[in-house]
Amino acid sequence: MHLPLERGPISRHVIDALGRAHEEIGRVVIGSARVTEDPDAQLALWILYELHYRGFDDVTTDREWDLGLLDLRRTLEQRFEHELRDALRPSLAGVSVGGDVGDQVEQLIAADDGPSLAAFLHRHASREQILDFLRERSVQQLKESDPHSFVLPRLSGAAKVALAELQYDEYGGGRPERLHATLYANALRAAGLDDTYGAYVDDVSALSLAGANVMSFFGLHRRLRGAAMGHLAAFEATSSVPSRRIAAGIERVGLPDAVAAYFHEHVEADAVHEQVALHDICGNLVAEDPSLRDDVLFGAASCLHLAALSGAELLDRWSTDLEVAS
Ligand SMILES: [Fe+2]
Ligand SMILES: [Fe+2]
Repeated sequence: MHLPLERGPISRHVIDALGRAHEEIGRVVIGSARVTEDPDAQLALWILYELHYRGFDDVTTDREWDLGLLDLRRTLEQRFEHELRDALRPSLAGVSVGGDVGDQVEQLIAADDGPSLAAFLHRHASREQILDFLRERSVQQLKESDPHSFVLPRLSGAAKVALAELQYDEYGGGRPERLHATLYANALRAAGLDDTYGAYVDDVSALSLAGANVMSFFGLHRRLRGAAMGHLAAFEATSSVPSRRIAAGIERVGLPDAVAAYFHEHVEADAVHEQVALHDICGNLVAEDPSLRDDVLFGAASCLHLAALSGAELLDRWSTDLEVAS
């Protein structure tokens, strides 16, 4: 993958730094703007995380552990985490105290009042808007499940076994052609889009990058293993019904079956994954270490919050399309 195009001083600094020897890295001033919705900061984070996944052409693999780049990543992550914890305080305060952590995550989902992107895609979206949605999600789905694999060595016992079981399914159940990331690539290709890993990084919004970045952030920090698993539980538990609606929308606009196939796969798979993630992973994780309960809920709320922001952004973008067209 080529390095993306810069979107401001922070991403420019990262891209320039990756093009030079590590001794030459200077410092970049990160302004006071929020990082959650900032395309420049989120692109910088996405690039920095990507060094831990597939890397970039012409960037040596040792840059993954470059102290200057890690220091910048930590600064951006601290801002990101602070903004998320700040935004989520009210919704987390509304969760009943004690009881089963899986039930608490379900309370957060029930209280979520984010806009229904799936309902719009089902009933109203044009073909172009569905393609737009597929492009925006590609930065996350082409590495589907990879962020959670970082968590496996940090778990033990029943929670580890349950995560391994879920990941085995996400990774195709022993069949390379069933790898979920490959099913997404097939969907992109069948829709006439580019299925190359990272092809749309230059085009997607800050919030699409943030949705992918939050998983890498939680997955790469052992401290946040509870948040990673809470995020996974909320993600799986809000996937099955929306996937059915999105598949129906894709069929409504006449896109090929391979596009809808990715979403059909997730109708049944995620109905199962929901239970595994809520109870077998998060339930066992918190039973083994009760101090992780708050972070499981923080991770779940982060997933819902960023999905709501991203959904609102896309619906807003598409309503502007409608106004322009009318
Ligand atoms: Fe999946
Ligand atoms: Fe899943």
